[in-house]
Amino acid sequence: MDLKGKKIVLGLSGGVACYKAAELCRALAREGATVHVVMTEAASHFITAVTMQALSGNPVFTDQWDARVANNMAHIDLTRGADAVLIAPCSADFMRKLAHGVCDDLLSTLCLARPHLVPLLIAPAMNVEMWQNLATQRNAKQLRADGVRILGPAAGEQACGEVGLGRMLEPLDLLDELVASFQLKVLAGKRVLITAGPTFEAIDPVRGITNLSSGKMGYAIARAAREAGADVQLVSGPTALATPHGVRRTNVQSAQQMHDAVMAQLKGQHVFIGVAAVADWRVVNASDQKMKKQDGAIPTLEFAQNADILADVAATTSISGWPYCVGFAAESENLLDYGATKREKKGIPLLVGNIGHHTFGQDDNEIILFDESGHTVLPRADKLTLARQLISEIAKRLEQRSLLK
Ligand code: C5P
Repeated sequence: MDLKGKKIVLGLSGGVACYKAAELCRALAREGATVHVVMTEAASHFITAVTMQALSGNPVFTDQWDARVANNMAHIDLTRGADAVLIAPCSADFMRKLAHGVCDDLLSTLCLARPHLVPLLIAPAMNVEMWQNLATQRNAKQLRADGVRILGPAAGEQACGEVGLGRMLEPLDLLDELVASFQLKVLAGKRVLITAGPTFEAIDPVRGITNLSSGKMGYAIARAAREAGADVQLVSGPTALATPHGVRRTNVQSAQQMHDAVMAQLKGQHVFIGVAAVADWRVVNASDQKMKKQDGAIPTLEFAQNADILADVAATTSISGWPYCVGFAAESENLLDYGATKREKKGIPLLVGNIGHHTFGQDDNEIILFDESGHTVLPRADKLTLARQLISEIAKRLEQRSLLK
């Protein structure tokens, strides 16, 4: 329920992407938002007000001269107390209106009449040539300068059959962008590198050794860091999870590949968070061909120690002071003792301990933060909530570091 208590005005202008606005409306309501839908006349050619009313659970406004509004001031009332106005889809013509302060229908008038602290977000949706047209780009530039957040557009195949930039972002990506817009930008301008998920050490081309890490905590941290304004790069072992919106992801399998991918991307990072459950050993006598089951013969595997990615990254900080390194520990007992010792052994400023060892694959968690001044417990919560708290704890420590310099 990421939008609980939020009042969102969802505006639809004319475009075929109106069909996606139905799903967006549903997603907003599911996250706890109160949604008031306002449609332009053009939008009502693509989707009916009845659909949007059913999905939002509120009356839909399409007309500036709506007899249901006793004071005839829907253009004022709708944005008073609103937390955001989101126009999705936003047509090229509606961008023009916003950029020039045109107010000739209910939606454009309420955008102009909204209190200046109510954020306006738009999700452009149009043909690639319309988007790239200099007039539209001029309007986009003006809107950015006016503080309007432009979400997307995405590139791809368009309803008209042409291919390129201009597709409206998918409803769930728009939902994530809206949720993110309410988070404090405590990592704005920072670059964050995160490892997540399990690793997979091959025995032969079809067999291998892995572990029960689902990647959920690492992915939640990647999302939270992006919400906080960071540029986020995720290096992930094999998982079934979707990449958080706006996060770049490199896929790897083995610990060695994860190590190489991290080292290749380390330059310029401000924060490194090692969340992955990295295999401690790899099989040195792995077979190039599938091993055959022969009568009674049992293969013997030989192991070698994998490099410790976190310790290697931490070792590089002695030169530049960056990145700020955060590690994870999943101890099954005596976490308080082991946590503090492990932090020192790894040579990192912050270590996160999972309380209990049954966190793998779960949706919630309970963690302890160990730093040079002791430990802090973050009580049980879902992984995204904890991830957001962890990101704000990291931001606090970065702030303290820069004050000390
Ligand atoms: O030493 P241990 O495996 O318990 O430490 C866990 C922490 O170290 C995690 O942050 C994990 O991502 C990281 N790690 C690593 N490379 C390894 C082993 C662990 O980065 N080879």
